Parts: sequence; C-alpha cells; structure tokens
Amino acid sequence: MNVLEALKNRHSTRVYKPDPVAPEVIREIVEAANRAPSWANTQPWEVYVAGGATLDNLRKRYLENFQKEVPPHPDIALPTSWPEVHQERMFQLGAKRFAALGIARDDQEARRKTTEMNFNFFGAPHVVFLCMDRNLSPWSLFDLGSFAMSLMLAAQHKGLNTIPAVMLVAYPELIREELKIPENLSIVIGIALGYGDQENIHNHFVTPRRNIDEFLKLV
Ligand SMILES: Cc1cc2nc3c(=O)[nH]c(=O)nc-3n(C[C@H](O)[C@H](O)[C@H](O)COP(=O)(O)O)c2cc1C
Repeated sequence: MNVLEALKNRHSTRVYKPDPVAPEVIREIVEAANRAPSWANTQPWEVYVAGGATLDNLRKRYLENFQKEVPPHPDIALPTSWPEVHQERMFQLGAKRFAALGIARDDQEARRKTTEMNFNFFGAPHVVFLCMDRNLSPWSLFDLGSFAMSLMLAAQHKGLNTIPAVMLVAYPELIREELKIPENLSIVIGIALGYGDQENIHNHFVTPRRNIDEFLKLV
C-alpha cells in the first residue's frame, strides 16, 4: 500500500466485526511497528494484545464500571482544561459527528449509548495496550506515538482497522489484573484492532482537518 494513500484513508473505526485476527498477522504488524524511531533507540514500548476470553472478561468489567458511572482514571491523567482554540475544535468534532449520526444535541440517551461503545471496546476482537516504564520521561511518549501510528498503518496495510482511544485505558487497575501487567509499567493508550464493519454508519464519518496554511510557515 502506498504510504500517502494510507495516510489519507486511515480513520478511526468505531464498530468492528467479531472475527479474530490471526496471531501471525498481529505479530507481523507489531514487527513492522517495531521499526519506529525512538530516543537513542531506547525502544520504550511494552505491548500487550488482549483478545478472546481475556478481553471478554475485561470488557464485562469495563461495562459494569460504565453502568456504575465510575469516572475514568487512566495512568496518564486526563487533561483538566484546554486552551480555547483546542476546546472549540473538540466541540466542533462532537457537533459534526453527532449530526452525521443523526443524534440530536439534547438526546442524552443516544449520546450515552455512543459513549458506551468505548467501554465495549467498540466490539473489537483485540485491543493493543501500549505501556512503558513509569520512570521514563514524557519524551518516551513521543516514541510510543510513533510506534502507535506505525502499528495503525501496518494494520491498514493488512486490511485491518484501528482506533486509538484513551477510554480503552480508563480503568488501568482492571487491565493490570486481567492482563497481569506489572505495576512498574504505565498503561498509556489502547488501540482497538480488527476488521471494521464498513456498513455501519459510525464508520462513515470522516473528521475534518485545518487547512495547512493555518499552521504551516514555509520560511
Ligand atoms: C491520544 C488519543 C486518544 C483518543 N481517545 C479516544 C477515545 O477515548 N474515544 C474515541 O472515540 N476516540 C478517541 N480518539 C480518536 C480521535 O477522536 C480521532 O483520532 C480524531 O477525532 C481524528 O479522527 P480520525 O482518527 O478518524 O482521523 C483518540 C485519539 C488519540 C490520538
């Protein structure tokens, strides 16, 4: 697959078919992502891919927490505020996405159902949890970002879909327990992985981008 085409076509997929991905395909995309650059080749990524009964148990516990309205508390704390311009982009994203889904602004039940999809892991057969040693600096998050994008593009090359989502790491103590992840690792991000249900309306929305002239200075 052409890289430019892949970059243009990648988008977050929020509804999956239940079909599992063959272990050798998972290994192949992780192998490709392992070529990501990192600070002095420190390769900070520790990768756990949950599927089958392990993911089913975790999903059940996530949905229970969602029903009980347990506030998400990822290892990397959620931001408490945003600069106005970024806040506005987030608001615009929500407004456009709900409009595309035909969900009214005041339809709290439909909005709640959409949020719940996160805690159902979007129905994906696998979730990749990217972790790193707690004692690493924020620079290593940059490396994990490179790894994540490489993994998502490699997955796309193999006909798979993905979504990186902080809500997948909303309850790190549950992930730690089910996946036996040691305390010294910070669970940074989850990436749902599988074959997207392309018929589903949730997968039709394409997010807008700023015109590059708004942020690019060719000096
Ligand atoms: C660090 C990070 C966290 C995200 N968390 C969530 C999330 O919890 N739930 C969700 O539905 N999407 C989440 N997303 C997906 C973004 O909303 C999405 O990438 C963005 O709207 C751009 O859309 P696109 O990925 O389809 O291009 C997250 C993306 C990133 C990079």
